[in-house]
Amino acid sequence: MKILVTGGLGFIGSHTVVELQAKGHEVLIVDNLSNSSEKVLDGIVAISGIKPEFEKMDLRDKPAVQDLFKRHTDISGIIHFAASKAVGESVEKPLLYYENNLGTLVYLLQEMSAKEKAHFIFSSSCTVYGQADVMPITEDAPVKKAESPYGNTKQIGEEIISDTCAVTENLNAIALRYFNPMGAHPSAEIGELPIGVPQNLVPFVTQTGAGLREELSVFGDDYPTDDGTCIRDYIHVVDLAKAHVVAMERLLEGKNESNYEVFNVGTGTGSSVLEVIHSFERVSGKKLPYKMVGRRVGDVIEAFANTQKANEVLGWKAESTLDQAMQSAWDWERKIRNV
Ligand code: UD1
Repeated sequence: MKILVTGGLGFIGSHTVVELQAKGHEVLIVDNLSNSSEKVLDGIVAISGIKPEFEKMDLRDKPAVQDLFKRHTDISGIIHFAASKAVGESVEKPLLYYENNLGTLVYLLQEMSAKEKAHFIFSSSCTVYGQADVMPITEDAPVKKAESPYGNTKQIGEEIISDTCAVTENLNAIALRYFNPMGAHPSAEIGELPIGVPQNLVPFVTQTGAGLREELSVFGDDYPTDDGTCIRDYIHVVDLAKAHVVAMERLLEGKNESNYEVFNVGTGTGSSVLEVIHSFERVSGKKLPYKMVGRRVGDVIEAFANTQKANEVLGWKAESTLDQAMQSAWDWERKIRNV
């Protein structure tokens, strides 16, 4: 039996593949390489010593998806990462996002639910909560109107799965609502590979530290927080990857309480943008050039997770500190830039 990891050569996908392999799972990766590279396979092999099966494929190609399941009848579960994730781009190209993030989800669920037993993990995001009224955020906090087509695809994706689970007894699914993933594998064999100018804070910080960018712009210092900058829950990508393995094993072992469950995946600790900068300065021993600029449209003031449900029900807890995650991000950046 094998686990299909869509987007398995991407940032979170590749880290999840090595954690699956470490627990003895056989992995089949499908990726269209739109935001990743086949070279990531070498990094995976360097860590685990196991080359996963890989097929370059675009999941928008429905006949190709059907053919994939005909050829691999031993797929027992899917961890579905493959999706577009740039908020700004989603505003420019909504149909690309709806097709890529939702069309593919439908095709996979159609194939998977035709099986006697189907296990499915979905990459969702804390973006579904928008600016939550209460911190830390629990899973039953209301889902707020999405700020972007990207955010909307995560909300609709969850609804597609929950509607399907309601009428498909053999389908067991978990949506994991990620907070802010960062860092890299401690071996520095795999990590984040942003194309062009990074939109997310941590890769921008490490690229600035490596001299690729002149300075970081801090988006807003007049928020109602202690230091005026926004607060997020930064989680080490290895901790996040492990949450996927635990969630998949929960389904494979039939330990789930209902056939559709939702978990927050964060550390439970909020850090401000300035705290992230200071973490970088501590682990790198370098001063980070930055300037304060205006707020970024669509940013929430603060978002950090209540992790009680994941801790108690899933039996998973984030282990790394912000500095440990930052150290791994910096080690990876130095390795790929030779600095
Ligand atoms: C962003 C998306 C979110 C998505 C997530 C995926 C927006 C508004 N939100 O989350 O929907 O799920 O990425 O990874 O785009 N910051 C700076 N300077 C920078 C970059 C970021 O000050 O150059 C600040 C931001 O204002 C924010 C924090 O750093 O306060 C984190 O930003 P980012 O890494 O983009 O994550 P989110 O905005 O939380």
